[in-house]
Amino acid sequence: MRTGAKTPKVFVSRPIPEAAISALRRAGLAVAVNPSDRVLSPAELARFCREKDGLLALLTDRIDRRFLEAVPTLRGIALMAVGHDNADLAAATARGIPVSNTPGVLTDAVADLAWALLLAVVRRLPEAERFLRRGRFRSWGPLLFLGGDLKGKTLGIVGAGRIGAAVGRRAGGFGLKVIYADRRPNPALEKETGARRVSLPALLAAADCVTLHVPLTSGTRHLIGEREIRRMKRTAYLVNTSRGPVLDEAALARALREGRIAGAGLDVFENEPRVHPALRRLPNAVLVPHIGSATVGTRTGMALTAAENLIAMMRGERAPNCINAQVYNKSRLREVTQGKGYAGGRLRRGKVTQGEGYVRVT
Ligand code: GLV
Repeated sequence: MRTGAKTPKVFVSRPIPEAAISALRRAGLAVAVNPSDRVLSPAELARFCREKDGLLALLTDRIDRRFLEAVPTLRGIALMAVGHDNADLAAATARGIPVSNTPGVLTDAVADLAWALLLAVVRRLPEAERFLRRGRFRSWGPLLFLGGDLKGKTLGIVGAGRIGAAVGRRAGGFGLKVIYADRRPNPALEKETGARRVSLPALLAAADCVTLHVPLTSGTRHLIGEREIRRMKRTAYLVNTSRGPVLDEAALARALREGRIAGAGLDVFENEPRVHPALRRLPNAVLVPHIGSATVGTRTGMALTAAENLIAMMRGERAPNCINAQVYNKSRLREVTQGKGYAGGRLRRGKVTQGEGYVRVT
């Protein structure tokens, strides 16, 4: 790779599928990988990133202002995740650093896991499995491990983006009707599944199974809390494969313990890797350690997508999955401000304002 005379140096914050490391090396980057398969502390991450041009980071890495200030050489960060609540995009943009994510490649794996959790909690699979392993299976029983029914029930999807819609598309196979709550309508989902868009309170009151698929933002933190859970049916199930803090875990634990809802399937937690102790004791909570995208094909696809984005950034090209696109205006803004840029084909001086998707020189 040629970006000036220097070989760009990148750091990968944890061992990831080898195909992606090879792709980075083939692209001419000098690649260093975290030698231990564990999350690095912020200080360790900053130390490993010293003098690096690029970072391939994971959802467990905190990319905040402090980190960015500690590593002034960074000029591109590729996240190997679709969710990016761990990255301060405004701080990255302010420093002219593009950040990318990996949308699309993990949609089906996460949708499958949402269904796996729903089926597991509705049919009490973990409880039944523990029972068998403890040697307590003496005979088939007419009342043994009776679970809930799905056919003819209503699935409520909170957040009908890529993953939420993929969960909705699978509902037909199990005979569920679909409703969804989202700020924006999803006409494709409505057309394919007959889904109806409703308000969040209406969804919570009507759904037999509620599944969460919103990104974590200041507006979605504890989107589902005590009041929302109280709107749900006593027979309803709740699944979360989005981000832990979208759901108030203490409120959920209380509701499950008091039988105010039937069960929950959780892949994500408010303070990972910690899990609310009350949840760990409840048989009607199925808990798995954030494995929504954990299939060989999906994780390879995510790693390759992240690598592709990082390579583009190191070449000074636009990253295909950039999530702070303003950064490109910003670097152009800097060029124009410094008198080096072109606006409308002619070099101009003047007051520079930044708009959405363009730079205006007046
Ligand atoms: C997984 O949680 C992701 O955001 O990719």
